[in-house]
Amino acid sequence: MKRSLLLCLLMSAGLSNVALADANLARSKNCMACHAVGNKVLGPSFKDIAAKYKGQKGVEDKLAQKITKGGSGTWGAVPMPANTQVSDAEAKQLVQWIMTLN
Ligand code: HEC
Repeated sequence: MKRSLLLCLLMSAGLSNVALADANLARSKNCMACHAVGNKVLGPSFKDIAAKYKGQKGVEDKLAQKITKGGSGTWGAVPMPANTQVSDAEAKQLVQWIMTLN
């Protein structure tokens, strides 16, 4: 009993560390200049993005590509510029984080 409780605590600590690490990645890659988790800034909120694409197949690749290459027309007229400072792997990591925010 004690042991599984400890395991549980360790696991949730580990999970929240991952979430924090990805929030920091988003900050360090300048995403938060145009996005926020819970409200629209220049770009849509990350929660709205998670809600829009929830359960869709292949969404990770599609959104990761949009992050690195930029694009427009999905949320309005304002384009997202290419984020060339973000690698493909980082873009995927960011999308995975965003999809947990819903
Ligand atoms: C200069 C402002 C700006 C920056 C910096 C920016 N974004 Fe965006 N982002 C936008 C705008 C504007 C849109 C809406 C584009 C559209 O309507 O297609 C958007 C859309 C998105 C979408 C949804 C794409 C879709 O097709 O639905 C994701 C995911 C996203 N951004 C993630 C990020 C991440 C991660 C970063 C950091 C690496 C980032 N953005 C940096 C402005 C920005």
